[in-house]
Amino acid sequence: MVLRKVCSGVSRHKLAALYPVFATYHRKILMKPTVNTNRLLGHLNSLAKIGPRKDGGVCRLAFSKEDLEGRNYVANECRKLGLEVRIDPIGNLFGILPGKTNLSAVMIGSHTDTVGTGGRLDGALGVLAALECANQWVEKGEQPARTLIVASFVNEEGVRFMPDMMGSLFHSGKIDLQTVVEATDSNGITVGEELTRLNYGASGSTSAFNVGYFLELHIEQGPELEAENLEIGVVSGVQGLSWQEVTVEGQANHAGTTPMHLRKDAGAVSTSMMSQLRLLPEEIPGLRLTIGSVTYEPNLINVIPERVQFSVDVRHPDEESLKTAEARIRGILNAPSVCSVTVRSLARVEPCQFAQTVVSSVENAAEGHGYAYKRMISGAGHDAQILSTMYQSGMVFIPSRGGISHNPAEYSTPEHIVAGANVLYGAVMELMNRGD
Ligand code: HGY
Ligand code: MN
Ligand code: MN
Repeated sequence: MVLRKVCSGVSRHKLAALYPVFATYHRKILMKPTVNTNRLLGHLNSLAKIGPRKDGGVCRLAFSKEDLEGRNYVANECRKLGLEVRIDPIGNLFGILPGKTNLSAVMIGSHTDTVGTGGRLDGALGVLAALECANQWVEKGEQPARTLIVASFVNEEGVRFMPDMMGSLFHSGKIDLQTVVEATDSNGITVGEELTRLNYGASGSTSAFNVGYFLELHIEQGPELEAENLEIGVVSGVQGLSWQEVTVEGQANHAGTTPMHLRKDAGAVSTSMMSQLRLLPEEIPGLRLTIGSVTYEPNLINVIPERVQFSVDVRHPDEESLKTAEARIRGILNAPSVCSVTVRSLARVEPCQFAQTVVSSVENAAEGHGYAYKRMISGAGHDAQILSTMYQSGMVFIPSRGGISHNPAEYSTPEHIVAGANVLYGAVMELMNRGD
């Protein structure tokens, strides 16, 4: 009524000029798209019951029974909503809610596989919040302006089969089916054997999606948002990563009889390498280096180690700095040694910047709700990083308590979980209304 009175005496031209004002008013004041809290938290609790650990965390290693059960949970919930479910040849799942127009689709999602010592939110939050967004249209009996696709990508973590982000790398054509099915775990089992044994069941065509935008809600998995007392991270990009496996081979021999100068001690050589590697972050500002896994053979107290295998995970927001780090690592590993050294690249992802359109839609949604937020880059790798080369992509972060993740103690408050889902939903609404 008020609007009609105000507009009655105003000419059509003046109205048109006023439209941006109303649009901002509508978006920032009136449009506070909110999700159903109980339903979202309920889904998170249900999914956390699949692959539970005694310490309250979850373990759904990629291409395991638990992983498939988790994927099927999402598939069933999509079907209950009436979404068409399509599954690609390696198990990536897509729940499709057709839109009114044939404009490019909006895809939202993440992953439901976890590391072995996983938490309840890493990945799961993004998939289930996407499901909740779809539910908002379904329960209102409305069709979204564009097709909405709920996505759950397999093997984002890459801890059992490498590389990580395997599902989104395959979806975006960066690795082929052969590479995926031949990936082998530490027990010599391949992805292909697991897909067959567990019947991950491809169904429907998943290659011809006309997707314009991809959005992923995720926990920050780091300390920044909590330390600055913020509720939302508007993610502008993701740092790059390089994973390598180093194998040092010497000669097993008696710990008591072998003089030090005659040893081919793989333990001594690898330890010296690891000590030099650990100094690199001091040399290259912003570099993060982790040696997360080391195995000794034969791993016996009185035998000189014959073989040591260790992993090197380096990350940096700047591609040139990441390349510098890789060159320094090569120099350290190739130094003359009494042992033989082989290096295998396990994963390599460049840093990415997200599309301004999508970053702004996230920022507008956070602002519309009045959430305290900041723009930031992601320390962890994500499917959105891979998909950003195909679709205009972006991410929403919520705080992680103590900055803890990849740990059963991973936790975010229900308020932050809902805030993240509200921002995801608000950003999707904005992208839905874009005319391009
Ligand atoms: O390692 C990562 O950054 C991701 O969690 N896979
Ligand atoms: Mn994740
Ligand atoms: Mn993770």
